[in-house]
Amino acid sequence: MDLSTDNVTREVAAGAAIYSKLVLALYDIEVLMFEMPLVFKCPLKKMMNFYNEHISETHLDVGVGTGYFMDKCQFPTQDPTIHLMDLNSNSLAKTSARIRRYRPVAHKVNVLAPINLDLPLFHSISASNFLHCLPGTMLDKECVFKNLTRHLSDGGTFFGTTVVGQGANAGFLYKKINAIYNKSAIFSNLNDNMADLETILARNFRQYSLHLVGSIAFFKGVK
Ligand SMILES: C[S@@+](CC[C@H](N)C(=O)[O-])C[C@H]1O[C@@H](n2cnc3c(N)ncnc32)[C@H](O)[C@@H]1O
Repeated sequence: MDLSTDNVTREVAAGAAIYSKLVLALYDIEVLMFEMPLVFKCPLKKMMNFYNEHISETHLDVGVGTGYFMDKCQFPTQDPTIHLMDLNSNSLAKTSARIRRYRPVAHKVNVLAPINLDLPLFHSISASNFLHCLPGTMLDKECVFKNLTRHLSDGGTFFGTTVVGQGANAGFLYKKINAIYNKSAIFSNLNDNMADLETILARNFRQYSLHLVGSIAFFKGVK
């Protein structure tokens, strides 16, 4: 797979490297349908509802994976404008093919670095199940919010979900699998917690909310 782009360290590449064509072929069943409810203790339906509540007609999706939510959600129009950002060309290709009916525009970028692209202003930006893949502490990940909110319209919403590594009481299986994923650099969330996520939201948005379901933080900020 092609992960080449400027400003990508080995640690950053590790958060995207796992998404081979084979892993993406299994992802919806293994991660979304099995691990989310049984390991991370959050029903997939809650994520889908959250996505449907905040999606808009001009949408940027970041860390797209297989594009499951964009394929299944109800956009408020038949013909939304959709842009995709991901570091991994497999994820971009899979998602672009899956939602080709919306003619998405794909950008291969590392969103931890400044994004120098000529883009429209988006009314919604989502980063679902994404921050836990990025290296560093939760506060280190604030740069992602700063890089992306430049491309959010006034009144637009940035929303997402992420597995936290601290403060979740989600049971033995979550602790075990989260530790294994961190050891193999698939996740990097051992320093991610709700208090730091709230600090980021308060610093970057006019209004915000966040809550925890199992080990999954649901967050949104309005610019
Ligand atoms: C766990 S998948 C999330 C898939 C999807 N959003 C979902 O909710 O199921 C994480 C995605 O983030 C991408 N990714 C990881 N690090 C990235 C980075 N620094 N910049 C952009 N994309 C990145 C990976 O390639 C992968 O497609």
